[in-house]
Amino acid sequence: MKIPFSPPHIDDAIIEEVVAALRSGWITTGPRTKLFEQKIAEYCGIQRVVCVNSASAGLELVLRWFGVGQGDEVIIPAYTYTATAAVVLHCGAKPVMVDVNDELLMDVEHLRDAITPHTKVIIPVDIVGLPCDYDNIMDFIQQPSVKQQFHPNNPIQEKLGRVLILSDAAHSFGAHYKGKKTGALTDITVFSFHAVKNLTTAEGGAICLTLPDPFNPDELHHDFSVSSLHGQSKDAFTKTQAGNWHYDVCTIGYKCNMTDIAAAMGLVELARYDRVILPRRKKIFDTYYQAFKNDCRFRMPVYETAEKKSSYHVFTLFLNHVTEQQRDEIIQKMAEREVATNVHFIPLPMLTAYKSLGYNMADYPNSYKNYACEISLPVYFDLTDEQVNEVIRVVKETVPGIPGL
Ligand SMILES: Cc1ncc(COP(=O)(O)O)c(C=O)c1O
Repeated sequence: MKIPFSPPHIDDAIIEEVVAALRSGWITTGPRTKLFEQKIAEYCGIQRVVCVNSASAGLELVLRWFGVGQGDEVIIPAYTYTATAAVVLHCGAKPVMVDVNDELLMDVEHLRDAITPHTKVIIPVDIVGLPCDYDNIMDFIQQPSVKQQFHPNNPIQEKLGRVLILSDAAHSFGAHYKGKKTGALTDITVFSFHAVKNLTTAEGGAICLTLPDPFNPDELHHDFSVSSLHGQSKDAFTKTQAGNWHYDVCTIGYKCNMTDIAAAMGLVELARYDRVILPRRKKIFDTYYQAFKNDCRFRMPVYETAEKKSSYHVFTLFLNHVTEQQRDEIIQKMAEREVATNVHFIPLPMLTAYKSLGYNMADYPNSYKNYACEISLPVYFDLTDEQVNEVIRVVKETVPGIPGL
């Protein structure tokens, strides 16, 4: 039985809505994108969202809006995908990497040592779908001694008066923390709708704007919409309304707007996300959990606690007492039995580009420890119960027993 890792869920409902967008006479940013922004805002319980063409673009737009540049530092976890760090480097700033805990998340203990007067932004990552402890992180950056260290160097930074918390929620759309949804938990949150994400628009992302007073969500929505579309005062849809041709370019913007074709996919997915998509993913997580929890070869991921609910994005199975090389061999043996698995993620300091910038894996021992024994199991809407059982069977038959037990 061939089991791929994470194919997208494309059914007639999505195809019909995409075709409707294609036939509508408007295919780039327009009514569907605007509606998708409103629906995401309603879903997250927030006021304003700007859709873009990827989470990477969204993260970079935020950093540039905040004026992050040369001489600045941005704290990120070492255990993440390259996008989190690359956007910082693109802005000319330095990613300061911190280790993660056994839930693969950055926590305040890591931040205490990493924060300096150069820190402008912290990017916690809700890795594999579990939200970080945002209350603790927000409390930490509000502490007078931490606030005093902050040196604003432009009016936006002065207005905030402290380090910006920019949540990389690429994996955690629909997750909960203390009764609130991701998107509503920090100053700004960025989601990804990339092809392998729970909710996909093929490529896409969203910026959730929840900065405190005196920031104005409507003004922020306007500014981010404009900067994602070349700094043009009107988007192309508005400009094509009869008599509405005139426009200005107010700032030198970027080009990362979402298309209405992508938004068409997103609208269909969002309308059934809590009703259909998340419950199916949770059921797969629960089945894996039950199958492996009493077997001493495995350590289970945390995906639900009293305070948190994951978006059930990636099921990270940790293998006890195996080396990195043994883990790789297990993945290969499973592939020979046609079960595709994955590893989320290779910590950044192990990758050539980051090694050559001077990052050293030895400085992030907990990230390495977790990476070396992790296997991501297939989780997707169309994965059948029979396939889930086959994955379980193949894992159990492939992972060796623990010597001496
Ligand atoms: C943790 C994390 N952040 C950011 C991104 C970037 O997302 P996108 O592909 O939408 O730019 C990804 C992509 O997988 C990711 O895993």
